[in-house]
Amino acid sequence: MTALARAIPMAGKVVLITGGTGGIGKATAIGLATMGARVGITGRDFDRAEEAVADIRAASGNQGVDAFAADMTSQAEVRRLAAAVLNAYPRLDVLINNVGGFWAHRHPTTDNLERTFALNHLAPFLLTNLLLDRLKASAPARVVTVSSGAQSMGRIDFDDLQGARSYSGQRAYNQSKLANVMFTNELARRLEGTGVTATAVHPGVVRTNFGAEDQAWFFAIISRAVRPLLKTPAQGAETPIYLASSPAVDGVTGQFFANRKPKTANRLASNAEMTARLWQVSADLVGMTSA
Ligand SMILES: NC(=O)c1ccc[n+]([C@@H]2O[C@H](COP(=O)([O-])OP(=O)(O)OC[C@H]3O[C@@H](n4cnc5c(N)ncnc54)[C@H](OP(=O)(O)O)[C@@H]3O)[C@@H](O)[C@H]2O)c1
Repeated sequence: MTALARAIPMAGKVVLITGGTGGIGKATAIGLATMGARVGITGRDFDRAEEAVADIRAASGNQGVDAFAADMTSQAEVRRLAAAVLNAYPRLDVLINNVGGFWAHRHPTTDNLERTFALNHLAPFLLTNLLLDRLKASAPARVVTVSSGAQSMGRIDFDDLQGARSYSGQRAYNQSKLANVMFTNELARRLEGTGVTATAVHPGVVRTNFGAEDQAWFFAIISRAVRPLLKTPAQGAETPIYLASSPAVDGVTGQFFANRKPKTANRLASNAEMTARLWQVSADLVGMTSA
């Protein structure tokens, strides 16, 4: 390996990170831009995304950082985002599905779906599928989905996926983060032999704006108390950056990671019947004609 390749190991690679305006996503963007990648970040508001781009360029010394805007709770906006990315990037080496949130109360989206399920699971499901041909054409390529340790407490309630009958913010979050790992495993199976890998990651418990829009009161108190003990965003970005860039995970697929190590995930995530069922239900909910 040349000195240049050692210094900028992601030179020539194109990475898209959803939710790069703050928190773990922004720290991941800084890390990968520092390694020489061209990095696209997304956020809901274009001006805020442009401000983050300026910060990421300054912190990384890499001008190759681009802003995309889309409210990913809306499927129409996810489709518009995918079209903009396909238009901007002739190749895509890494997709990091990072966007996610927590809501103490049930909020319907413009598609009349429950927001946690729509943003945390259906948005990465749809975006990945819309970008899949570009990833395959750029192989070897990687899809990294930011899940959570909460996946271990999740279950998929196929009879009430949208929490319409009974909603709890924690239950909806746990379900969505388990769905991230199930999606990853099913995607890995479907991508066998294509050179595109799929991994999921628990970033750790990280000091960010996570859950601030509609926080449960007890969570607000606890998080204020423990905030100084949490990982910094840069520490939270370490495993996503590792999965996006390290030669040590070349070809590694269908695995869940924390602290740069494979971890055993919720046993439901390796139940092929369940992951296939979730894929089909998700395909129906996003109107994908062939699943
Ligand atoms: N923080 C933790 O302790 C922790 C632990 C385990 C897992 N995670 C996971 O890590 C991921 C990142 O979390 P974080 O803590 O960095 O969160 P965060 O600080 O709240 O950042 C969320 C990012 O997503 C964007 N975003 C939020 N809603 C959006 C929407 N509707 N459409 C498009 N973009 C949207 C935000 O951008 P704008 O506001 O500019 O739109 C921001 O860039 C999530 O998937 C979360 O579940 C976090």
